[in-house]
Amino acid sequence: MTRRNCSELNCKDKDGNCSMPSSDGLPVQCVGTWVEDKFFFLERYLNASCEARRKFSDKGNAVFIDLFAGPGKCIIKGKEKEIDSGGIRALNRNDASFNNYYYFDIMQANVDALQQRIEKNFGVHIKCGDSNILVDDLVQELLKHHYRYHFAFIDPFSPQALKFDTLKRLAKLIRMDMLINFPIGAIKRNLKTWMNRSDTILDDFLGTGEWRQEIKESTRDNTFRVLIEIYKKQLISIGYPKEGLRAASSDNEIYSGLPTVSIRDTKDVDLYVLILASKHPLGQKIWNSSIKYSPDGQKGLF
Ligand SMILES: C[S@@+](CC[C@H](N)C(=O)[O-])C[C@H]1O[C@@H](n2cnc3c(N)ncnc32)[C@H](O)[C@@H]1O
Repeated sequence: MTRRNCSELNCKDKDGNCSMPSSDGLPVQCVGTWVEDKFFFLERYLNASCEARRKFSDKGNAVFIDLFAGPGKCIIKGKEKEIDSGGIRALNRNDASFNNYYYFDIMQANVDALQQRIEKNFGVHIKCGDSNILVDDLVQELLKHHYRYHFAFIDPFSPQALKFDTLKRLAKLIRMDMLINFPIGAIKRNLKTWMNRSDTILDDFLGTGEWRQEIKESTRDNTFRVLIEIYKKQLISIGYPKEGLRAASSDNEIYSGLPTVSIRDTKDVDLYVLILASKHPLGQKIWNSSIKYSPDGQKGLF
């Protein structure tokens, strides 16, 4: 099936999918070019950590979790380029990186599309629902197996979709690395509204309401540093070692609280930052070296 060009149209629906199907006839998510940067860092980390993971994957003990999986494909608006989602990239790696894959999405259409796009059945578990609820059964299931490594790709559109409590539950697993999309752009747009106490979206996302007071006491330029610092404290509170969350050597000023990498749009505006939380010093070391170079090979941007 050939796909009509959507670059001139406002074809993104309220759920982030394109109103036109992809070339395989299934739903596809409309994205900007910067999504390739996000996948670049995901894949760079998965590549760099492959050997460390092998002692688990060789014995069938490496687990990949995608809490916000999407339909499995994205289309880059303007370029009409179809690319695989992060979860599909993890599945299609040719180094047998993981043995079990868990994919969740709240939209039935996305889950159905993902199911059809994934040919492999063994070890793949796909569920439709709110990840913040599904995580309970997932953790119960995973806790039954002791010697396992887990990697969770946590990629929501906005803070509304993710509760810190969900990370807290995942963190019950001893070996749990989390690559988190911290949606700074959405937070920036809504911060004023959320300052109102009746709105608990950011409280739930950060797992605390202390940000209101801290933001009031800080200067405007410092807002995002404050939020990242709070997030860091929260990650420490659920078992992620402080040393691992120390800033990478060349972090920029705004996000210097955590070793993060910024994903920016074509106007150089920050949309989200990627945070890697690992309980093992090696995971954090690998992340710090993974973010040293930008996708175009420039050094010291982050
Ligand atoms: C940014 S997109 C995911 C993109 C995908 N990770 C990729 O690599 O292309 C966010 C996805 O989260 C789903 N979603 C939103 N709220 C959710 C929730 N509470 N639980 C599970 N999925 C949710 C949306 O349907 C959407 O597909």
